[in-house]
Amino acid sequence: MAKTKKRYVCQACGGVSHRWQGQCPDCSEWNSLAEDAPATVFSLRHDLSSGGRKVGFAPLNAPTQLPQRRSTGLAEFDRALGGGLVPGSAILMGGDPGIGKSTLLLQSAAAIARMGANVVYISGEEAAGQVRLRAARLGLSDAPISLASETSVRDILTTLGSMDAPTMLVIDSIQTMYSDTIEGAPGTVSQVRGCALELIRYAKENGVVLVLVGHVTKDGTIAGPRVLEHMVDVVMSFEGERSHQYRILRALKNRFGAVDEIGVFAMQGEGLVEIANPSTLFLSGRDEPLAGSAVFPALEGTRPVLVEIQALIVRLQSGATPRRAVVGWDSSRLAMLLAVLESRCGLNFSSAEVYLNIAGGYRLSDPAADLAVAAALVSALADRPLPNGSVWFGEVSLAGEIRQVAHLDLRLKESAKLGFVDGYGPSEKRAGPHGLQYQGLTRLMNLVDRIVANA
Ligand code: TYD
Ligand code: MG
Repeated sequence: MAKTKKRYVCQACGGVSHRWQGQCPDCSEWNSLAEDAPATVFSLRHDLSSGGRKVGFAPLNAPTQLPQRRSTGLAEFDRALGGGLVPGSAILMGGDPGIGKSTLLLQSAAAIARMGANVVYISGEEAAGQVRLRAARLGLSDAPISLASETSVRDILTTLGSMDAPTMLVIDSIQTMYSDTIEGAPGTVSQVRGCALELIRYAKENGVVLVLVGHVTKDGTIAGPRVLEHMVDVVMSFEGERSHQYRILRALKNRFGAVDEIGVFAMQGEGLVEIANPSTLFLSGRDEPLAGSAVFPALEGTRPVLVEIQALIVRLQSGATPRRAVVGWDSSRLAMLLAVLESRCGLNFSSAEVYLNIAGGYRLSDPAADLAVAAALVSALADRPLPNGSVWFGEVSLAGEIRQVAHLDLRLKESAKLGFVDGYGPSEKRAGPHGLQYQGLTRLMNLVDRIVANA
């Protein structure tokens, strides 16, 4: 028969323990375990007499209908989603507080509503008046959105059940929602999971596009409810530095498409403006070459984006532990690159502070950035500017070799188009596209020689 067991769920990572502990064994957070609704453990014999039924299998090539996608009204949003919204799907929109999630969704909801579809926008964080004020400022007041400020999932679902199902339902945010059938305060793992489950079930049964807004913690995970990531079909992340105007919309998971395309927006007085051609966005527009600055042709999906990488090296006099600070790149990747530069190229960073910054609030995830970062570091260390009009890309191995990267041609072509004249990358016999000189490097040592000796 079914028997129940107590269980404790970590409110930070969703990890499950069967006894209470002061520290979560999964994420090492203190005092984060809370008792959760007991899990039911079945100990039945699995044969047909037990009341189960046979599951029908189907071949992979059975005829299926491709999902009919719907535009979000914003081309950049559509692009990041891999072509638009799929009815009956659930999207989790993650991002830091204040980054622009509510603005993006209000603009998209208004665009969809103006195309004649029925859109319901539930705000659990702001009063309806506040949302109306924002809509007025964005010039969206005339869009026929059904707006409510509510946090009770029971009331929301009762209301939705009494009307025609909308095309899109926005819940802003899932952490403020509350279900009275579940114990715990809003924002706890069990509440967030329970509310999401009820809303997702409604969306699937009625072919509604459900968008759940979720705030993200400092370390980049969608706060507490990491459990949500596997429940939804699409996980989007809205990123950027709050002090900069550019915002990048990325899919971290997508059951209906690839996750390599990004959407680029600028946050301006009149809301989010789409940037259709972002390739020069993250370059600072100066002509003088400076030491410690390298340009990297990054690739986001099929679009090249040129970004400037800035490094600053400060020699320390005393024996204090030197700082390493990184904005926009992975700090462990920087530690690895510094170690390779020290052990394979004989450079010494150990008594120097190293600061690395990706200009424009951009976050680099392309592994081909290694060589450009190395070029910026070596240029800063030697206090020699890199050759004017040069771009750098390539993955660096622990042995100090420059490895091949994807889409070499695309990177070179875009760089040439924007007026760059020298491309440095993995060793390969080829001519650059018209107007660009390509030089292949085999080892990181070649780069150091080139900057230190010839610059
Ligand atoms: P918001 O969408 O409320 O962020 P989130 O829902 O992710 O918490 O956006 C908040 C910020 O965006 C706010 O600090 C002000 C800025 N903003 C503009 O600069 N221009 C605008 O037109 C709007 C609506 C917001
Ligand atoms: Mg908001």
